[in-house]
Amino acid sequence: MSFTPPKTNRRLYVDADCNFSVRDTSSPLLVGDNELVIENIYSGVNPADTKHATILGIRATTLGYDFCGRVLSSPPGSSFKQGDVVAGLTPSGLGRAEKYGTHQDYLICPEDMAFKVPGNLPEAHAASLPVVALVAADAMFNFFKFPLPGSNDSFVHQQPILIWGGSSSAGLCAVQFARASGCRNIIVTASPARHDMLKSLGATHVFDYKSPTVVDDILLTVKALDQGPIGHAFDAVCAVEPTPSAALVSQCVKDPAAILVGITILKDERFKLPFSLAKDDWTIRVNGHANPITIPARPDDYWKSWSALQWAVANYGQGFELPHVEVLEGSAEHVLREVIQVGNLSRGFGKIVARHPLS
Ligand SMILES: NC(=O)c1ccc[n+]([C@@H]2O[C@H](COP(=O)([O-])OP(=O)(O)OC[C@H]3O[C@@H](n4cnc5c(N)ncnc54)[C@H](OP(=O)(O)O)[C@@H]3O)[C@@H](O)[C@H]2O)c1
Repeated sequence: MSFTPPKTNRRLYVDADCNFSVRDTSSPLLVGDNELVIENIYSGVNPADTKHATILGIRATTLGYDFCGRVLSSPPGSSFKQGDVVAGLTPSGLGRAEKYGTHQDYLICPEDMAFKVPGNLPEAHAASLPVVALVAADAMFNFFKFPLPGSNDSFVHQQPILIWGGSSSAGLCAVQFARASGCRNIIVTASPARHDMLKSLGATHVFDYKSPTVVDDILLTVKALDQGPIGHAFDAVCAVEPTPSAALVSQCVKDPAAILVGITILKDERFKLPFSLAKDDWTIRVNGHANPITIPARPDDYWKSWSALQWAVANYGQGFELPHVEVLEGSAEHVLREVIQVGNLSRGFGKIVARHPLS
């Protein structure tokens, strides 16, 4: 089946040569058996929107993974119906179909990657949540194996955990999941302007990652806590400058049995890679490598992360939130410039979403 947009479908696009542009199209979108046709309301911006094109070879295609929109059509027997407001994320990998890019006015989403947006979750926040909540949940509940919120209320974890880059969007989710799971000593790094906010979300000890004494300060705090060494560490930014954040994380972790997780692919093989889209195999071609590689699906882990995302949705505003979500105003060209800046990790704190239809 195919869907023909009733009006021009404006989209943010990357071509095969990695040029980014705004495109207008009225081409029909192919709709698979278990897929929803969505009229977009907001598309959420992630660093992956451009990084996957520039670094991992995912092009030519429409940009974007997160969205909140209105269902125009759903498959027979679906739990979704026309008019439902849903949010979700869409598939990735080499050869990604243009229909899945979420920075367009009409898109296609597999039914099992969408959820209904409840009244407690503002639509712009719904469009910001899936990618970052799923990757943080993968770190906390699959690699660290902390219990899902609400699944074991007697779980108390006193041994300190470290979240580096706690004010990245993924870091904010990790801090709140750790608190909800039962972690009692959550050590976080962030810029000083973010410290009070992070404490309000669950961080118990917060350090400036730019301080020359940050590693020593963290080690002194771990010693003073007297609850053992850091046993779980999540690098939620994997920054490369000025000092690679993963190297600083390693210096804070003295327990050889500690579990290390880094949010991007790292050379240091002690760091496991969490993933928002672990439902399916993911095939990419990393720059400088001739052959594609496939990261195998972990569907059981994905569905556990999805449960955590649904917990965050149900508890949004009361135990879980993204504290800063900005709706971009202005033209599609302006939105594209902002998307590129987020991909360069140079836009700073907070989530941004684009309003649709793009102008
Ligand atoms: N594996 C996956 O599936 C997956 C999923 C989502 C994201 N990611 C990746 O994860 C990274 C973060 O994504 P995001 O959307 O959460 O980012 P984001 O919200 O755009 O992160 C911005 C924040 O990063 C912090 N930061 C920048 N440099 C830092 C450093 N050297 N040390 C500590 N914090 C630093 C800044 O915190 P302050 O304001 O405190 O300075 C800034 O506010 C990106 O590389 C993204 O591609 C991977």
